[in-house]
Amino acid sequence: MGKVKENPEKIIGVCTGSKCRKYNKEILASLKQFRKDKGNKEKIEVVKTLCLDRCKQAPVVFFQPENRWLTKVQAEEIKRSLEVFTK
Ligand code: FES
Repeated sequence: MGKVKENPEKIIGVCTGSKCRKYNKEILASLKQFRKDKGNKEKIEVVKTLCLDRCKQAPVVFFQPENRWLTKVQAEEIKRSLEVFTK
């Protein structure tokens, strides 16, 4: 049996559906670097999702519990959002 994980305080959702996947390599790299830098101190979990049914706005990322959705998001915008999200 695997290790039981605690529920995260915050979630960053990244769509990895076929349309978003074309654009989100830099986004996933930014999030990976963020997790490496911050560890699990922030209790933030990155969740890869299937298509979020917003393909015309790809790539799509969301932040919970703030319910902030970023569409047609660029890697630089993700970096700025992470700074705000983790304050
Ligand atoms: S593939 Fe991301 S919203 Fe559809």
